[in-house]
Order: sequence, then C-alpha cells, then structure tokens
Amino acid sequence: MNVLLIGSGGREHAIAWKLAQSKNLTKLFIAPGNPGTAQCGKNIPISSDDTDKLLEFARQNKVGLAVVGPEDPLAAGIVDKFEAADIKAFGPSGKAAQLEADKAFAKQLMRSSSVSTAESRTFDRFEDAKAYIASRDEPVVVKAAGLAKGKGVYVCDEPSDGILAAEKIMCDRIFGTAGDRIIVEDKLLGEEASILAFVDGRNIYLMESSQDHKPVGDGDTGPNTGGMGAYSPAPIVTENLLNQISREILVPTVDGMNRSGTPYKGVLYAGLMITAGGPRVLEFNVRFGDPETQPILMRLKSDLLEVLLAVCDGTLDQIMLVWDPRPAVCVVMASGGYPDDYQKGRKITGLEEAGQLEDVVVFHAGTKEQNGQIVTSGGRVLGVTALGSTIANAKAQAYKAVEKINFDGAYFRRDIADKAIKAKL
Ligand code: AMP
Ligand code: GLY
Repeated sequence: MNVLLIGSGGREHAIAWKLAQSKNLTKLFIAPGNPGTAQCGKNIPISSDDTDKLLEFARQNKVGLAVVGPEDPLAAGIVDKFEAADIKAFGPSGKAAQLEADKAFAKQLMRSSSVSTAESRTFDRFEDAKAYIASRDEPVVVKAAGLAKGKGVYVCDEPSDGILAAEKIMCDRIFGTAGDRIIVEDKLLGEEASILAFVDGRNIYLMESSQDHKPVGDGDTGPNTGGMGAYSPAPIVTENLLNQISREILVPTVDGMNRSGTPYKGVLYAGLMITAGGPRVLEFNVRFGDPETQPILMRLKSDLLEVLLAVCDGTLDQIMLVWDPRPAVCVVMASGGYPDDYQKGRKITGLEEAGQLEDVVVFHAGTKEQNGQIVTSGGRVLGVTALGSTIANAKAQAYKAVEKINFDGAYFRRDIADKAIKAKL
C-alpha cells in the first residue's frame, strides 16, 4: 500500500521511520517532511495545510492511506475531505478534532461525560474574565480556547498575572482568533503524564505511558516549549492507575463523543495531572504527541501500518500491540534562544556518528538540507532517542549520542528522565 504522511516534525520522522519497517508498505510519501523523513520515503513539497494539493497528489499516486501528524489540518477537516474522496485517512474528523482545537468544547464534553478535570469558566469578554480572576484568591490557569501551538496556557499564582495573561490573549490578541475566548481554570497540583490511545470509534487501545518535559530549563524552569524531551514508560503510571485512566477518562470521553454525534477515531492523547485525588485531564490532543511519539514508537514492536489501518477500519479489537519492555528516552536538541527568537541555518555535524550508536535513532525536526549539508531550520532541531535496559541506561545512551552532535548555539536539557530515574529508586 502507498501511504502519504502529512507533517514535517520530529513526530513525523518517528512515524515515517516506523512505517518504513512495515511489510505492507509499498511507497511512503511525506508532505512536506524533513531530511530525516527523506531517509524513510520520498518527501513531497506540499505544505501540510494545502488539503486540495495533498488530495490531488494522493489520487494521482494511488495512496491507500493518509496519516495526518499535526493538529491544524485535522481541525480544518482534512480527514473528512480524504474520506469523501474514498481515501482512508488516519485521524479524527474536523468536528471531532474540536476536542483539541476548542478547549471550551473539550470542557463541556468532559463535564457532560463526568470526566475529572479542573473546575473552569469560559469567557468571551475580557472585562468579565478580569472581574472573575480578580475575585479569586487561589492561583488560576488562563488558556486560549483555540489552537496556539502549545503556547496558549499561563499558569498564574497571582490574580494580577492571570489578568495580564487574559489581556495578552484577549486584547493584544497574541494568538489571533484562537484567543477570542478563554478558559480560566483552577491550578492543579501533582505530577504530569501523557496517555495516548488508539481509538477506532468504539474500541480503545492504550499505548505505553510517557512523560513530556515542557519547560525549557533544567528542573522544569523557564517558559513552556513544545517539549524538550520525553521518556516512556512513565513509572508514576502504575497498572492500577492506567486502568483507572482508561475507565474514568478515556472510555467516558469516547462514549461522550459518540453521544454528541462526533465519533472519535485516531490517536486520543490525554495530558493528565496525577493529583492526590486521582488523575485529572489538563488537555486533550487529537494526534500523536511530539516528542512523546519518538520514545513510544521506538518501543512499539507491532507493525504500525496495520494498527493505523485497523483504526480506520474499526477493527482495533482484532490486533495486538506488542511493546519492547526496555524504556526509551528522547532528548530534544534545540536552537539556542528557543522558545523565543533563535538563529537558523547552522551546520549540524556528528549526525551519522550519533546514529550509529547501539539502539539510538536521531529523529529530525527543524532541519533542512542546504548545499548537501544538514542545517538547522527550526526551534526544536533533533530528538535524539535511545533504548536502554533501564531508564538510566536509556538516558545515558541518549546523552552519549547528543554529545556527538554539534551546531552553533545547540541547547538541550540535561535532566531528561531524571524524574523517572528517581521514582525507580
Ligand atoms: P496544556 O497545553 O493545556 O497541556 O497546558 C500546558 C501546560 O500547562 C501543562 O503541561 C501543565 O504543565 C500546565 N497546566 C495546564 N493546565 C493546568 C492546570 N489546570 N493546573 C496546573 N497546570 C496546568
Ligand atoms: N508534547 C506535547 C504535545 O505534543 O502537544
């Protein structure tokens, strides 16, 4: 089968790397891809939001399955368009993607499905939000309701900071129309974990747990980023907790989506806070996480193409996911300055040497080829990922590979997976 993978980040390189191992794959196209995906298939210079061109390409090249990586095309209804043209597409419909693209919709669905999440209020007018935040003594979290590339959330310990955040989002419109509406919710305390599940409309199949590192600095300091590293599994998510998350969060959410006439298929990603009172949903994403996908897919032994097709066909109950028991750790190498301004076009060396280390894969994200050289082209540049017999060994191997790679201004956290290592002691 010919497959068209849409996107160009580290997550897409990991998906392409895994799909390329499938025995059922004939040709893999990636639009637009990056130099890493070019090692797994053929990159096609079509932007991930140009649905019409993607569809035309898919028709001309006998694509049997489109796999959508990022949230924007999903929210814009790319899956509906492919399915209307009789081409299978992995991911939720535009309506179902509102679970990520509209946090007010997600909150409403959780409320009506009795899914635990922070208490919240929704505001369309700054003055109302300001009055509400000013009336509170507890810390608040202010969130743009729409898609803001993972940056639309402010955790505010003081009401004055909450009001400033609401002002930036609603009046200065720093996220454009994504901030027309905001959610103000209670701050939750605990440890975070991500649970990703394959969902085919009816059946839910949980993947192994993982943990992202959102803040840019060691010890979880500094502003939030798209994710500076991840590990899988997350020791905090015990077997019991996983069952509870499935029973109390994923099952009612998928049922709720069915009841509201927006059946869900694709990857359902629950970003959770494990509080003293149990797991609470911080957010839903409607796609694979980045960088969680890198360690998760390095651990997946099953044929990913078969799994994605089972999701599209509603036959998830007929397959088995087999996992490598060894943990995996992904360290993101970023351009210095990220998540603010950073330089591009810096020559990257040592990629081959790092990739030759045992059980290491260097996933590309913000890279491009320029005059036969791989150079930096984005904030998150590489996701250096390794398997190990223990999480500490996986960490050591990932950092060994990181040390072999160089570019001007390269920045990475040095404490990826430390939380998991401590939890194991
Ligand atoms: P989100 O994009 O909604 O996952 O939010 C980004 C990050 O903000 C999360 O990973 C948490 O670290 C933090 N966050 C979001 N909502 C809350 C909350 N209600 N309480 C505490 N932290 C939160
Ligand atoms: N790693 C967080 C995300 O993919 O949104």
